[in-house]
Amino acid sequence: MKIAILSRGPQLYSTQSLVRAGIKRGHFMHIVDHTRCTLAVGRGRPKIYYNDYPLERFDAVIPRIGASVTSQGASVISQFEMMQCFTVARSEALLQARDKLRCLQKLARCGIEVPRTASVVAGQDLMPMLHEVGGLPVVVKLLESTHGNGVILAETYRTAESVIEAFQRLGERIIIQEFIQEAKGADIRALVVAGEVVATMKRQARGGEFRSNLHRGATAEVVSLGEQEEEAVLRSVKMLGLDVAGVDFLRSRRGPLVMEVNASPGLEGIEGVTGVDVAGRIIEFIERRHEELRNFQANKG
Ligand SMILES: Nc1ncnc2c1ncn2[C@@H]1O[C@H](COP(=O)(O)OP(=O)(O)OP(=O)(O)O)[C@@H](O)[C@H]1O
Ligand SMILES: [Mg+2]
Repeated sequence: MKIAILSRGPQLYSTQSLVRAGIKRGHFMHIVDHTRCTLAVGRGRPKIYYNDYPLERFDAVIPRIGASVTSQGASVISQFEMMQCFTVARSEALLQARDKLRCLQKLARCGIEVPRTASVVAGQDLMPMLHEVGGLPVVVKLLESTHGNGVILAETYRTAESVIEAFQRLGERIIIQEFIQEAKGADIRALVVAGEVVATMKRQARGGEFRSNLHRGATAEVVSLGEQEEEAVLRSVKMLGLDVAGVDFLRSRRGPLVMEVNASPGLEGIEGVTGVDVAGRIIEFIERRHEELRNFQANKG
């Protein structure tokens, strides 16, 4: 098969891991920087130009889209979809998962437990929203946060108010969220491929820190999921229409609370900690889909 990986970082661990896994299984792997793609839409066949030349036909595309170029990346995926190319993450699903508030709305609507969350808007009273999420202490989050940057624990009303004000002055969109104290600075990342949990790790924040991002020096270890947890993870991914995703949840007194679903999950941490060849599982999933599609077309013809 000819498989394209949409990635801006050919040297990144995840990209390299996918390239290796594909080559090992006899596929032609090509890294395409989606920020250098131009798209032709309208009469005739949809086309993608890459570095000024029309891009060849691929059987499948694996999007690895960074948060800062989500919309641009989604347009490129959408174009691949128009060209009948199978994509591991559909553009609509990527957009929905990437917006933290929309993602939580969708999950909550499907009856999946999430931390109590509220949006806050400049000029509107904070008090009722604080009440909605269960009062202080409260987690203040930028909708666009990554690696724990822009995720702050406010213990007092004054702190919450001034942090929110400062973010708003910078034009940032914000949510507040109930603080899950009993999670004790840990969260769980479950990697799902094709409706199956293939790898899970627990990330534990360093002492004195509540954010368990590996980029912030958190440690990680293999963990197994309870039945209820596995169900919440698989349902979340299904409801968001994703085939490959990293689901993060917190262990709370009222069960697992899904915090976010990542449509381009990093592979370095999870492969390193669990020893699972997640990239290989993703390639195998693409092979199965390709085969199914071929059989379908053969039966039709
Ligand atoms: N409501 C909460 N209660 C307790 N801990 C939380 C809560 N929200 C976040 N945390 C902790 O802070 C960490 C960072 O938060 P979050 O994952 O929401 O943002 P981020 O890591 O910046 O975003 P992304 O995962 O998209 O890069 C989480 O991994 C978790 O350990
Ligand atoms: Mg996170």
